[in-house]
Amino acid sequence: MIPKTYYIVTFGCQMNERDSETLAGMLEQQGYTKAPEKKNAEVVILNTCSVRENADKRFFGVLGQLKHSHEQNPGMIVAVCGCMMQQQRIIDKLKAKYSWVDLVFGTHNISEFPRLFANVRDEKKRYVDVWDGAGEIVEGLPAKREYPFKAFVNIMYGCNNFCTYCIVPYTRGRERSRRPEDILAEVKQLADSGCKEIMLLGQNVNSYGKLKAGDIGYCYREEENGVDFAGLLKMIDEVPGIERIRFMTSHPKDLSDDLIDCYRTCRHLCKQIHLPVQSGSDKVLKEMHRIYDREQYFALVDKLRAACPDIAISTDIIVGFPGETDQDFEDTLDLVRRVRYDSAFTFLYSVREGTPAAVRDDQVPEDVKHERFNRLVDAIHEIQEEKSVWYQDKVLPVLVDGPSRTNSRVLTGRTENGRVVDFPGDKSLIGRIVNVRITKAQTFSNYGEVVECE
Ligand code: SAH
Ligand code: SF4
Ligand code: F3S
Repeated sequence: MIPKTYYIVTFGCQMNERDSETLAGMLEQQGYTKAPEKKNAEVVILNTCSVRENADKRFFGVLGQLKHSHEQNPGMIVAVCGCMMQQQRIIDKLKAKYSWVDLVFGTHNISEFPRLFANVRDEKKRYVDVWDGAGEIVEGLPAKREYPFKAFVNIMYGCNNFCTYCIVPYTRGRERSRRPEDILAEVKQLADSGCKEIMLLGQNVNSYGKLKAGDIGYCYREEENGVDFAGLLKMIDEVPGIERIRFMTSHPKDLSDDLIDCYRTCRHLCKQIHLPVQSGSDKVLKEMHRIYDREQYFALVDKLRAACPDIAISTDIIVGFPGETDQDFEDTLDLVRRVRYDSAFTFLYSVREGTPAAVRDDQVPEDVKHERFNRLVDAIHEIQEEKSVWYQDKVLPVLVDGPSRTNSRVLTGRTENGRVVDFPGDKSLIGRIVNVRITKAQTFSNYGEVVECE
């Protein structure tokens, strides 16, 4: 064990990645540095996700592996946090079978971590501290960000939509928006330190600032200063130094015309949108409580493409929601073929205890789910293959992330619409935006050459 080192394993979405950056920042403030591996760190944190059963299983797998290192290193502190911890059945299981875990906390008390950690370390006691609901948004927490040139910025927390399959509203609580001045201050500070790309985060960024005084989770009144999500984007677009703005996730039910118009007016908004559709069947969408139908979704896609013809549209789709018939699934395939997504994340429906869909008695058999899933993935790939032709020989600006994961001798980066490109180049280009000609456009990987630097 290397004293004063930490290792954080993050499961799940960008919200969790951002939370892990905060936890890392807190530990670094106390003089801790990142350990090369979890087995030799003094502090190991597992930041969990509960969105599908697989995520739960992976967590227990990693936790099981850690038991041995914990026994071998008496000073090692193992902490677990994140969305899984907001569920009583998980806490009960940890208490019964993993009582050696030193600290358990949840999504609502991350700001308390330094105090909880000090208690565990100094008193050598075990603590479980999980809050049922969120308190005030705590500003000014430290962060150890992964890249100096691109950053996640939370604009809101929680979710009020209660899609009938989804655990997130239970694990992350009600919607709370950060004040626009706090968000802008963070973006300006990032820009001053050389950050070029901002990813604005929220479970449904389109409802930013929508809560009214008196609502649970109310933070500030939109009508007081007139800032909704489109307004916020316009403000961030003006921050000198910020060259790329992305956001996720955008719920189709409140994607406004003002926001679509931002694709015409905001110079730094990337030509990309993640617009989860979940299903192409009106019946299933209704039962999922998504509050839009396929025609409304098509209309949004048309408007987005009218505002920004080259926009890349990505989505999330769930296969095998309870009661999904062959015809419902055909409707999903048809929607996918009509929208022609640039990319899509596809998921097998996973029963989440405590959600309305979990108790339905018309669950789709596993083999049917898998068969549909494979057909959907094939349809998406076919479209992606056709779409990659567009990229061949195009010269596109790429923000250089670093050495490629698959081949460390070349660099990798992303185009404005999110496509990953590998190309040869000097490490001094990392963090810069360079023009790259795509010499080989393929469905899952693109190769190119630098034609001109900033
Ligand atoms: N707030 C985001 C999604 C967050 S969860 C939104 O509404 O777009 C990310 C994705 O996980 C969802 O879009 C959905 O496709 C998928 N998902 C959520 N719950 C699921 C479940 N029980 N089974 C399978 N996939 C699920
Ligand atoms: Fe889950 Fe729906 Fe909220 Fe997204 S909008 S986090 S899918 S409940
Ligand atoms: Fe998972 Fe929680 Fe995100 S359940 S997807 S980590 S909000």
